[in-house]
Amino acid sequence: MTQYSDYKQAFAGLSMPFAWVDLDQMDRNIALHQKRARHVPIRIASKSIRSVEILRYLLDASAQMQGIMCYHPAEAAWLASLGFDDLLIAYPSLDTAALDAALDQVAKGKTIYFMVDLLEHAQAIQKLAQVKQVRALLCLDLDMSIQYPALYFGVHRSRVRNAEEAVALYRQIRGLPNVVLKGVMGYEAQIAGLGDAVPGQFVKNQIIRQLKKNAIPKIESRRTRTVLALREAGADIRLVNGGGTGSVESTILEPTITEVTVGSGYYCSHLFDNYQAFTAQPAAGFAVQVTRHPRTGVLTCNGGGYVASGVAEPLKLPKPYLPRGVRLDSNEGAGEVQTPIHYRGSELQSGDPVFFRHAKAGELCERFNFLYLIRGNNIEREVSTYRGDGKVFM
Ligand SMILES: Cc1ncc(COP(=O)(O)O)c(C=O)c1O
Repeated sequence: MTQYSDYKQAFAGLSMPFAWVDLDQMDRNIALHQKRARHVPIRIASKSIRSVEILRYLLDASAQMQGIMCYHPAEAAWLASLGFDDLLIAYPSLDTAALDAALDQVAKGKTIYFMVDLLEHAQAIQKLAQVKQVRALLCLDLDMSIQYPALYFGVHRSRVRNAEEAVALYRQIRGLPNVVLKGVMGYEAQIAGLGDAVPGQFVKNQIIRQLKKNAIPKIESRRTRTVLALREAGADIRLVNGGGTGSVESTILEPTITEVTVGSGYYCSHLFDNYQAFTAQPAAGFAVQVTRHPRTGVLTCNGGGYVASGVAEPLKLPKPYLPRGVRLDSNEGAGEVQTPIHYRGSELQSGDPVFFRHAKAGELCERFNFLYLIRGNNIEREVSTYRGDGKVFM
């Protein structure tokens, strides 16, 4: 188990705040998710990594790594220009300049899939692809949410809800000469992104587990039926992507799945502590410096207010990691420029670092230009984040 004194020594002398990735811990996570995915190829979700060097590290870690799931066409274009290939843009875009840049890379021979769930998405790509005289590969985003009478279990993303709607969209797309449907993606967010072992909510955890158990066969049936129906209608579907860090075990069992996505599970941001099915290691976070000591048992640090996106709730705050026994102040949380902490132990003095973990993996990198990589409790090197490379896509 990582000790505060090890990290304090490893990072001694650095200006704070800074962000780090512990390569020993990340290696353990790589091995864990590989084992969970068994024989199924893994696509790396770049939104949960946001560092070119770390993406390279992950891709090089195993032959099981399939390629990158990007979150913006401008990002895909940039990664392709840096030598990456096999890029699935997971979210439809109507940004003409960004689509154009990605299509330039297609013209250079890169394999890039563009996500669609409305005819307009396909038409926008068709228009640009025609000018370049390329054929763009499309992937259809299938909605995986489930509407119960009194509960919507899932997220609001795709318009395509079942096999019939997928085939109807395919028939419209088929008429566009410069695009071709080659993939299906269904992201079961309510399984993959929803913790079911959250401390302090025993009853809610039981309900979520039951809801997940009921939903999994429905998800499998919808995704499988859709892929088979599209093939029956004439589509040459060769990529079927599903899941995320939290759903690997169930996603890989589906017969038509060709790959599963994993992103957050490599850094293991703290929301991914809360799953019954697996335990990943904390591999990334940030350090802030104790600068003030307003009263006994309370210390105040500079920085720290790096709150995650999504519904506003305490779970989205960064989580104190090391030393153990630190907690945030319930009135102040993590502050814009100062974060008070409650701590009764003996390990913290003025000037010391306090290590936190972000709730979400990739968002950590939107706060820092660099990540310090440590191995064996020594700094191995420093790599840039997307932000450090001057790339902010959203
Ligand atoms: C389309 C899609 N696939 C997969 C994922 C899973 O990513 P992660 O493994 O980082 O949770 C996400 C996360 O939001 C997603 O939007």
